[in-house]
Order: sequence, then C-alpha cells, then structure tokens
Amino acid sequence: MTLLAIETSCDETSAAVVREGQVLSNVVSSQIALHAEYGGVVPELATREHLRNWLPVTRAALRAAGVAASSLEAVAATQGPGLPSALMVGFKAAQALAFALRRPFLGIHHHEAHLYSPWISGDPPAADFGAFQPNVSLIVSGGHTMLVHVEAELRHTLLGATLDDAAGECFDKTGKLMGLPYPAGPTMDRLATEGRGDAFDFPRPMLTDRNDDFSFAGLKTSVRYFLQKNPRLLDDGQNLRDLCASIQAAIVDVLVGKTLRAARRLRVTCVTASGGVTCNRALRRDLGSACARAGLTLRLAEPRLCTDNAAMIGVLAERKLAAGTLPTSYDAETAPSLALL
Ligand code: KG4
Ligand code: ZN
Repeated sequence: MTLLAIETSCDETSAAVVREGQVLSNVVSSQIALHAEYGGVVPELATREHLRNWLPVTRAALRAAGVAASSLEAVAATQGPGLPSALMVGFKAAQALAFALRRPFLGIHHHEAHLYSPWISGDPPAADFGAFQPNVSLIVSGGHTMLVHVEAELRHTLLGATLDDAAGECFDKTGKLMGLPYPAGPTMDRLATEGRGDAFDFPRPMLTDRNDDFSFAGLKTSVRYFLQKNPRLLDDGQNLRDLCASIQAAIVDVLVGKTLRAARRLRVTCVTASGGVTCNRALRRDLGSACARAGLTLRLAEPRLCTDNAAMIGVLAERKLAAGTLPTSYDAETAPSLALL
C-alpha cells in the first residue's frame, strides 16, 4: 500500500511516503535553530512552525516520492506522546486529508515507532522485517529514555524509563552549565573525542539498581556543584574537552550497562537503539563492543533516522494496517501523555 505519514510531536515537522516497507521519501524540517536562542523547545513557537511547515513538507514528500495525494491508500500521524499543541497540527491535518481522500487513517504511538526505526536501513531506506529478532530496545533522546522488551513484531512491554531528566536533556543541561549552545549533545560528542573520559569522576546513577529505570537529574546536579567548586576550570580548553568526555562516559556507561543487563536477563539475542542520543559516537561504539562481547546482535538506527522522522511512523503504520489493526477514527483526539504499554 502507499501511505503518507506525518510527525509533529516535538520540534521536527516531518512527512514521509512509504510503500511496501520502502521509504519513498522522508522530509524533515528541523526547528533546532529557532529554539536554540531560548535554550530549549518553546511549545508555542514549535506549534506555529508546524502550522507553517506541515503543508510544504507534505507536498515535498509527495513530490520526492512521485506520488499524487489522490493515489495515497492510507494516512498516518503521530497521536502521542508529545507537546499537546504540536501534536494536534500533524494529527488533525492527516485526519482531514484521510477524510477528504476517504482513506483509512491510523494514529501511531511515537515511542512504538522508535522501536522499529533500527530495522530501517539502506539507500533508499527500507524496512527489513525479515531480519527481525525479539530484542531489548533503548530509546534515548532529548525527551525520552526508556528500555522496552520487543517480544515479537508489534508486541512489546515497557521495562523502565527515566524518573526525571532524559539522557539527551542531561547532555543539553550539563552542556549549558559549561556555556555550550543548545542542543549541547552533538557539541559534547565532538569535544569529547579530544578529551579523557576518566579525567573527572561523575556518578553513574542507578547503574547497579535492580530495575530498568534511569535517573539523570543527580548527574546534572553533581556537574553543577563541581563547576561551582572549580570556577576557573573551563579557562583551559583541555579541561572543557575532558569534562565533556567524562560526563559523556557517565551517561554512556549507564545506558550501556542497563541495556545489556536487561538483554541478558530476558535472554534476547538482539539489542536495538534509536532516538537523537543514539547519534552519539561513544554510545554507538560502547554498545557495539558490549554487544559483541555478549554475543548479541546490535541494530542501531542510522543517524538520519535516530532523530524524529515520519519514515518510522509510516513504516509502523503500514505494518500495523497490514496486520489488521483497525483504523483510528477521523475525529479521534491526540494523546499527549499516551503511555507505552
Ligand atoms: O530524537 P531527538 O531529536 O528528540 C527530541 O527532540 O527529544 O533528540 C534530540 C536530543 C538532544 O537532547 C540532543 O542533544 C541529543 O538528542 N543528541 C545527542 C547527539 N545528537 C543529538 N546527544 C549526544 N551526542 C550526540 N551526537
Ligand atoms: Zn522521538
């Protein structure tokens, strides 16, 4: 089937056209530059941008796919979770389009879509469900940090999530304490390549706790106290690089340690990861070596599909419709706090 998907849950306006698992187009308009000035995503501004951009982005996706709106067979959109007013833009636009075309509409859970993005690869990208293995999936971004047991295609159980800040938020907030521009994650990744991860010792929150939850607010606080105690530390550029590497090492150790422990406990053969922080090179490297040591297959979402995108929404929507999932009503509402069950 040929399906259009729209994603507007946070600060990316995205539209994608998917056909039989092939991503025919995936257009992403990021608002990072707009929000950078404010040091974080401003919901009102995000919504206005989505309102301005959803139609040009959708048109561009249809054009790039060589598909006319009239030949779409289904339309999907992110239903939740996300910023309430931002979600409404893409969801309501997609519903209206499906209604006008008299095609089925499907609302998709944003995190459930992340679970399948590691299975999309290649150029042009395509879903490789033939290779699917039950797995433990790490979703790690600016807004979410969670571990999920994906027992089978379209069947999953949430294992744990962050009790406070997400891992990406921890990068962004500690980066801000060091004077780095928002979002600090990619900059810290770059600076850390020339720093020593063992230069400064930061806590590894909840690493040894017997659960699959995370907590990163304490790490942020310890970086704040450390900088208050050492006010001249950042006068030296090498200290900045060492600090980035040391904070990154603490975050990565926790993410890798807890993911691997869950994978071993549940006896899965495969680990997957997605979300913006999965772009982080140290995380990719350390997950790679830990999985290799443990004899686990690792599927990392490709960097361009780590961050929010409509391709993952479309791939999951098509799979669900093909599996007999009933369409969502044309007048269903968004669900900003939708839980991943
Ligand atoms: O998936 P994403 O766009 O989702 C949210 O909007 O939540 O992820 C953005 C987050 C930001 O916190 C950003 O700092 C982080 O992902 N990030 C990184 C890297 N690239 C993006 N964090 C560490 N290293 C990176 N290379
Ligand atoms: Zn996301």
